[in-house]
Amino acid sequence: MNVGIFIPIGNNGWLLSENAPQYKPSFELNKQITLKAERYGVDFALSMIKLRGFGGKTEFWDHNLESFTLMAGLAAVTSKIKLYATAASLVMPPAIVARMSATIDSISNGRFGLNLVTGWQRPEYSQMGMWPGDQFFGTRYAYLSEYIQVLRDLWGTGQSDFKGEHFKMDDCRMSPQPQADMKVICAGQSDAGMEFSARYADYNFCFGKGVNTPKAFAPAAEKLIEATAKTGRHVTTYVLMMVIADESDEAARAKWEHYKAGADHEAISWLGQQGAADTRSGADTNVRQMADPTSAVNINMGTLVGSYASVARMLDEVAEVPGTEGVLLTFDDFVLGVEAFGERIQPLMKSRAHVQSPVPSQVAPEPERLAA
Ligand SMILES: Cc1cc2nc3c(=O)[nH]c(=O)nc-3n(C[C@H](O)[C@H](O)[C@H](O)COP(=O)(O)O)c2cc1C
Repeated sequence: MNVGIFIPIGNNGWLLSENAPQYKPSFELNKQITLKAERYGVDFALSMIKLRGFGGKTEFWDHNLESFTLMAGLAAVTSKIKLYATAASLVMPPAIVARMSATIDSISNGRFGLNLVTGWQRPEYSQMGMWPGDQFFGTRYAYLSEYIQVLRDLWGTGQSDFKGEHFKMDDCRMSPQPQADMKVICAGQSDAGMEFSARYADYNFCFGKGVNTPKAFAPAAEKLIEATAKTGRHVTTYVLMMVIADESDEAARAKWEHYKAGADHEAISWLGQQGAADTRSGADTNVRQMADPTSAVNINMGTLVGSYASVARMLDEVAEVPGTEGVLLTFDDFVLGVEAFGERIQPLMKSRAHVQSPVPSQVAPEPERLAA
């Protein structure tokens, strides 16, 4: 199973709680986390795009870096790990995104890919006068379908004459083209979102569900299998989960209860209002799940709480769900969390048995150094 880290491009990661670690995003923090992840053989790092926060006492996500520029910086300081940026398709023209992607492909030597989002939170875009109107909730994926065709034209041939309802290219050119096959993530969960993934994406990311129920996302993976049966394309599921681990189940559970006790209700209620604004995308969207009161303190992302051994066992269960190729992890504390994953959890996982332990020092022995 592949493992990725959903790096904290926004303040406080994914915990809306006064009792959780409080921190602002910075390049240094994300660099530290990504370099550690790389050292432990983690396959990829992904950053989201978030243009408007939720407020509340914790100022949740009021502080966010920009995804492409962050990943470009990380591309320059890493060497193995794959990197994905998120494109806010409503406000970033595809010909520009194609070129930014080719640039980070060059910086990273072919380690870059893209997460495409339509946007689901009106204020992110209306604050800049760029929300097309609420009918967009219903047409988001038709828009994104045109968008990706322009991207694929430019990446594939360096030229596009695509003519659609939203985009009209006129001998649009782009060079250099990316050296690697550009992989595309979509995290759509609505019917239209899944159909988009099955038709155009390489990976569909979904939310995990529940606490210590690692296979509860299986219906979403199944839905993707059904959608890809219609398109005949190979698209796999990756699931988003938060890990809260400690030496014992009790110690981890105590941390989780402490975070829940400090829930930032003002920020959570803002999330609920945003989820309710979309009445056109069908019932089964991630956004509604995020706002569900059951575990809104970490936007209901599916949580694994337990000792390092318990978390390793549950992650192995994730790998057993048909159609699932990977997991995208968040942590309560990312620096300690990635370290604990690399040192304590991963070595116990059957589904990560192929990953080598990190070499403590890369210094070559004396004679080789002299010869060089
Ligand atoms: C792993 C993951 C990453 C996501 N990243 C972003 C993001 O960066 N920006 C954003 O606006 N939405 C993001 N989303 C939301 C999805 O793009 C999508 O809109 C949401 O899952 C609801 O599905 P739907 O669009 O089919 O209704 C993310 C969702 C997941 C599960």
